[in-house]
Formats: sequence, C-alpha cells, structure tokens
Amino acid sequence: MAIVQAINLTKKYGKLTAVETLNVEIDEGEVFGLLGPNGAGKTTIIKMFATLLEPTSGTAKINGFDVIKQPAKVRESIGIVFQEPSSDELLTGYENIKLYAMMYGIPKDEIKKGISEALELVELTNRKDDLVRTYSGGMRRRLEIARSLIHKPKVLFLDEPTLGLDPAGREKMWAYISQLVEELKMTVLLTTHYMEEADTLADRIGIIDQGKIVVVDTPKALKATLGGDLVTINASTIPISELEKLKYVKKIKQENHKVILTIENVSRNLQPLLKVFGKIDSVEVRNTTLNDVFLSFTGKRIQEEGKSTWFDKIIQESTSRA
Ligand SMILES: Nc1ncnc2c1ncn2[C@@H]1O[C@H](COP(=O)(O)OP(=O)(O)OP(=O)(O)O)[C@@H](O)[C@H]1O
Ligand SMILES: [Mg+2]
Repeated sequence: MAIVQAINLTKKYGKLTAVETLNVEIDEGEVFGLLGPNGAGKTTIIKMFATLLEPTSGTAKINGFDVIKQPAKVRESIGIVFQEPSSDELLTGYENIKLYAMMYGIPKDEIKKGISEALELVELTNRKDDLVRTYSGGMRRRLEIARSLIHKPKVLFLDEPTLGLDPAGREKMWAYISQLVEELKMTVLLTTHYMEEADTLADRIGIIDQGKIVVVDTPKALKATLGGDLVTINASTIPISELEKLKYVKKIKQENHKVILTIENVSRNLQPLLKVFGKIDSVEVRNTTLNDVFLSFTGKRIQEEGKSTWFDKIIQESTSRA
C-alpha cells in the first residue's frame, strides 16, 4: 500500500516551476531517496508533503490523508528533520525534545518515557542535560531525529540528513538511520545530493532534476541501466572495429588515444578485452555509480567527482583551522 502519494503535485514561484506535476508512490516500510543536485526541488517536495507549503496545483496523500484537506491528520502522521538546524541552542537536548512533545500534546505521564526512549535510540542519553550549543554537528542532527520521533510518526522525512557532516560522521549517521528503520519499521523519505548516501540507505531512488522526477528504481536497477562498468584504456592505437564486434562491450567512447568502454560483467570480460589491444599504456576500471546514472539521464553530474560542494569546503576549512 502506498503511504505517501503525490498526485500531479506542482509548486510554482512566479515564473519558476520548482516542482512539476510530480507523481510518485512510496510504500509502507520503504526507504525512499530523492536524489538530485542543488535547487532540484527536493525541499519543496518535502515541505508540501509536510503541509508546510501549499501546492500550486495537484495534491499529496500521506498515510491516507490529503495534505490540503486534512493537514492536521497529516501532521500527526509525520516526523520531519529540516535541512537547516532547527533545535534551540540555548536549551538542553532533553528540553528541546520536551518542548516538541508538549507541542504535540503528548500526555504528561508519557513524555518522560518517550524522551528517554528517543534519546536512547540516537545514543544521546549521556549528553541529554548539556546545552545543544555544546553538541557536535552530528549530535545535533541526531537530536533532531530523536525529536522528530517523539510522537511515533508513521512516516519520517529527512531533508539532507548528513549535510555538513564529515565523511566519518556521515557514515555513522547512515548506521543510525538504518537502525531506526530496522527497529521502528518506519517509512522514510530522505533527500540527498550525496549519491553514496542514496545508494547505501534507499530501497528505491527517485532521481530528480529541475523539479521533475526523471526515473524511479532500486539503486541496483538504476546502475544496471548503464549496461556495465566503465573501463578506460589509454593506448596509441584503439582497435575500434574489433571492439564493436564484442558482445559484452555496451558502449564505446573514444577521445584520441583514450577509449572509455562500458563493459558487461567486467570481472569475466576484462582479460579477453585487453587481448584485443596491442600495446596498452594504462587501464582503469571503475564501477558505475549513481552519478553515472544521473549523467546518463540528465546529461549533467550531481557533483563533480573529486570536487566538494561549497558546504563541504566550509566544513573542511573550519575544521582545518580548528
Ligand atoms: N521561497 C521561494 N521563493 C522563490 N523560489 C524558491 C523559494 N524556495 C525555493 N525556491 C526555488 O525553487 C527551486 C527548488 O528549491 P529547493 O529548495 O526545493 O531545492 P533543493 O533540491 O532542496 O536544493 P538543495 O539541494 O540546495 O537543498 C530552486 O530553484 C529555488 O531557488
Ligand atoms: Mg533542499
């Protein structure tokens, strides 16, 4: 059964269409990743699902409730972690969650137990009485996840859950999210522009670009659409006509003395492939990534390989200065 359903969901800001006639269904218990570059429309979609932003046209149903006609019911059904930090730095972790619990009208006698459980889940029990100001970025993110779980929502929205975390922090966060899904059997919609994140966490991925979902499938199936892994060979002569005869060569792209080949079942076919060449200067084998998938569907890259985003740069600069 679809627990999240977008029906021709559209958001326009003046002339700009941030989300264009989105139709997508997320099943109960699924982890769904919206993967796309900056400005693709990810946050706009989540905000419409969470009743924080009114659609220009179309609608969405969450847990069977319509975001336009039954916003209160939708809010009871969801938890949300925003892209920007949203906890109060001048309160303790415990106080932050308590405030939220009271806003949700959770009965007084249940609040204490609920907060303890949520804090335990994200391993913040021993820091609960410290001011959030003293938390690390990762701890703060975890606190916001704990807070979003306090009313036991059926669907959890995570908008860029690891933005601003260093690679180690990011991996830890992935483990927390996986554990949550396992223990609470929740439906999770997460947005990210980190392809490894979508690949690691999501059962299915919707690739989004300029307000439109380009394709939806499992990470494995998406990568399989490219037909194989990439082999780059540098050689003075490229035997193009020989390569064209090979069944396991799915794509050929030549650039002077270099050829980039898409090879099916590379572990089996690499040896025979190399025999077709005379003298080879270098060989590089690379598994296909979701970045390649994104490139093949949109003609663009999500992130330049090896290049970090401005956000990562700021984090790196501030940590190297410290
Ligand atoms: N309040 C607003 N007024 C005008 N335009 C907006 C507003 N909010 C978002 N947009 C535009 O809508 C588009 C989608 O923005 P959105 O924040 O949903 O992207 P995103 O995929 O979440 O990007 P990011 O990865 O940077 O968070 C962008 O072009 C953005 O500039
Ligand atoms: Mg966003």
